[in-house]
Amino acid sequence: MAKNQIGILGAGAYLPERVLTNKDLEKIVNTADEWIMERTGIRERRIAAPEEDIATMGADASRQALENAGIEPDRLSYIILSTNSSPYLYPAAAIRVQEALGLNGKLAAFDLQAGCCGFNYALHVAERLVAQEGKYALVIGSDTNSRWSNWTDRSTCILFGDGAGAVVIGPSEQGRLKESFIASSLNMKLYCETEFNREVSPFLPHQTHTQRHYIYMDGPEVFKFAVGAVKESLRRILEMAGITREDIDYLIIHQANWRILDAGARFAKVPMEKLIVNVDKYGNTSAASVPIALHEALQEGKIQRGDNVLLISFGAGATWGAALVEW
Ligand code: COA
Repeated sequence: MAKNQIGILGAGAYLPERVLTNKDLEKIVNTADEWIMERTGIRERRIAAPEEDIATMGADASRQALENAGIEPDRLSYIILSTNSSPYLYPAAAIRVQEALGLNGKLAAFDLQAGCCGFNYALHVAERLVAQEGKYALVIGSDTNSRWSNWTDRSTCILFGDGAGAVVIGPSEQGRLKESFIASSLNMKLYCETEFNREVSPFLPHQTHTQRHYIYMDGPEVFKFAVGAVKESLRRILEMAGITREDIDYLIIHQANWRILDAGARFAKVPMEKLIVNVDKYGNTSAASVPIALHEALQEGKIQRGDNVLLISFGAGATWGAALVEW
């Protein structure tokens, strides 16, 4: 079967209303607005309301992406939702989004877990599915990190926020997905164990007390990995596409920490005005970070037809990857 040229037709995002500022955090853990700003560039982040979760946020971002793409939901063949904070091991949150869009039984929906690189992974997989079949897919990143953060650990809880972003992809000459790659390598410097009660299993060593599981991170080690992953991703995607740093018009890097974005932009030799930054407003929203940033850059009219937009992310796993989009 001939391979269709696949493009991004539209993007959407959902950010919960509740804002948690650094000043608010000062009342929860022993930290300071100045410390957080200096080390991370984060000023505030969003916290999902009790009735919200990755599926409700993902559905809201998807509706907006479909509207912006001008695609009716019934033209979709796949929904892939990348997340690291599912409240259910099953059913997949993507199927709950499918249901919310009135598409029960009409397509295949599944979740994908690849740390904060999840959106790049989902985009890479979705592009290959629809390129063969000439169909449309929703690619979503949605995370509620606030529910897996240890709110007594100042070195991690200050970093994360909740949110969702989505894109619609399909046969198109607009937003052309020119090249992408994804990669992984085991790294236990950033992990989160599944919550389950070991005490009820007769096949596991007895625990005297149950312990909640939270995001565990060795910050300085993860920082070093992240900067290296951004540089490696840049080198590799530019080589794959046969273009140079000078050809990059916009750089969207996973919004983990301003210092990582700054290092990436310097390495790419991309001027600061071509670096998309919203980490100050939302913190690290994991799999949602790249599509939220892409959506905002499009809404602000920054990205123009013909621009080369580079999407780079990295995360727990470890995972990393990049996609080059010609708008
Ligand atoms: N407020 C005030 N002080 C804090 C703090 C906070 N929120 N968090 C840590 N500190 C303290 C530490 O206790 C330590 O104090 P000590 O020197 O007395 O022991 C000091 O600040 C330095 O800690 P360190 O962890 O070395 O700081 P850092 O400069 O590496 O910054 C991170 C910490 C987490 C901001 C940084 O390592 C980082 O961003 N790492 C990457 C995280 C990331 O991107 N994760 C997601 C990847 S997808």
